[in-house]
Amino acid sequence: MLEIRVPATSANLGSGLDSLGLALSLYLKLTYTSQPALVIEPRGDGAEELPRTKDNLIWKTADRFYREMTGKTIPAGYLSVSSHIPLSRGLGSSAAAVVAGLLLANQLIPRPLTREQLLHTATAIEGHPDNVAAALFGGFVLVYQDYKHVIRVQHYPPPDLECLLAIPPYPVPTKDSRAILPLQVSRDDAIFNAQRVALWIHALSQHDWSVLRDAADDRLHQSYRTSLVEGLNDLIYASYEAGALAATLSGSGPTVLALSDKDHVEAILRRWASLAQSYDWPLTVRHVRPLGIGAEVKQIYSVNQEAVASDD
Ligand code: HSE
Repeated sequence: MLEIRVPATSANLGSGLDSLGLALSLYLKLTYTSQPALVIEPRGDGAEELPRTKDNLIWKTADRFYREMTGKTIPAGYLSVSSHIPLSRGLGSSAAAVVAGLLLANQLIPRPLTREQLLHTATAIEGHPDNVAAALFGGFVLVYQDYKHVIRVQHYPPPDLECLLAIPPYPVPTKDSRAILPLQVSRDDAIFNAQRVALWIHALSQHDWSVLRDAADDRLHQSYRTSLVEGLNDLIYASYEAGALAATLSGSGPTVLALSDKDHVEAILRRWASLAQSYDWPLTVRHVRPLGIGAEVKQIYSVNQEAVASDD
């Protein structure tokens, strides 16, 4: 039996559109046992919306990758999937599914690929590298691409950094949230973001959290996405008023991510709760941790023993 656990991720971190990501302690978990017929059992957030057939994104990804690597169909099995990553909320649910599918198939092929190689494939499927890189490797990732490669640089999150998520109840499909972005931006805006991504790199390498508010500022995507995310600016503003180190749209939204030290967590949660009273919909708030490790794979052997092997 295989057990795979893939974390949620928050992409962009404000200025780093398609370039920065962070792994979070919310998980998609799956177990796979080989058997003659395919049975997929989704549980958890949005389980009722997920296909139980070959069209399930995890299975589709696994099968596609297995075929590419072996020329054969992936062996059928019993797949139990339980996820606490809400769907289409900007927390990397589809990236987690793609990574889970690739890791599953990778365990079943004769010559498994490295995670660096899997990152390339995952990025090609997902269309952007930030979520999949954070999901595969964990921590803060800085990721860039050239024509042939996807390259990531990783920083471990400090133990005292808290992550708060304000999650609206409505989904925002990434495709819509990307379609709304302009194809061209001004030189001023490009420079604005380049300067701020540089500040992120300084903050991560020096553990200097004093610059995060400036580092997370953005002109390339968040303002365009406010029309899809009711209350985005208010939630970000309220986070800063309450002492957040950084507050951004998480990925393509609609979730808002606030990074904070321990002392300001309660104040941020109180401000969000008070703002939420003015909405016609319920705001779900989660307090999670930044994760230093990415997806985990365990092979469980059942021959009267509890032997566990990991792919790492
Ligand atoms: N970087 C991507 C975007 C993340 O902002 O569109 C999508 O979750």
